[in-house]
Amino acid sequence: MPHEAEKRAAARAALEYVPHDTVIGVGTGSTVAHFIDALGASDSRITRAVATSIDTQRRLRAVGISPITLELAEKPLALYIDGADEIDRLGHAIKGGGGAQTQEKRVAEASMMWVCIVDESKLVDHLGMRAPVPLEVGSGALAEAIAAASALGGSPELRPGAPADSGNPLVDVHGLDLSDPLRMEITLEAIPGVVACGIFARRRADVILIGRADGSVVTLAPSE
Ligand code: 5RP
Repeated sequence: MPHEAEKRAAARAALEYVPHDTVIGVGTGSTVAHFIDALGASDSRITRAVATSIDTQRRLRAVGISPITLELAEKPLALYIDGADEIDRLGHAIKGGGGAQTQEKRVAEASMMWVCIVDESKLVDHLGMRAPVPLEVGSGALAEAIAAASALGGSPELRPGAPADSGNPLVDVHGLDLSDPLRMEITLEAIPGVVACGIFARRRADVILIGRADGSVVTLAPSE
């Protein structure tokens, strides 16, 4: 897997933000998988966490942490740890490469702090440089959602063989104008049938930990 050392470095650095004896939110993806391994091997005394996907539930259980639902957790959560497909220096992100953006957005918005863990390749000057915007689309609404995304100037592609954990289809939209990420997030989520899009602008990252090939980590704090 490319960028594994960078992902591992960012994931390990996130341990510094984890409070003892509390429930945290945990995202989805290969960088988060490194975080879960590091958390399991740490002395954090985290015993329960809100998971954003079936894969994350499984990984948490494997290190002795019980996944719980957001509904059962006391809110706001103190901390959310997750990766991104792209992130800019203001903390705007595109997520959903793993198809989990709907649950990730719920948990991120229910958390006081989001620490985003990425390798260097994910940091972009502006969103849309390397990743499409994923949409989770509700049952029966695929044709309308694809037409609406095209009308916004995007090139939508149905993601082959990869529905979200909910069973809903995922559509990756290339070529959208993301110069105003918040506006596009609101516009996409106003399309009837779209459950959630992968733009995270309403809820930006508070801290970005960028792992580098030499094992060092750069910290950006967009919310300061
Ligand atoms: C999953 C996500 C992930 O955070 C994103 O795809 C990055 O994944 P990885 O850490 O494997 O590069 O949004 O829905």
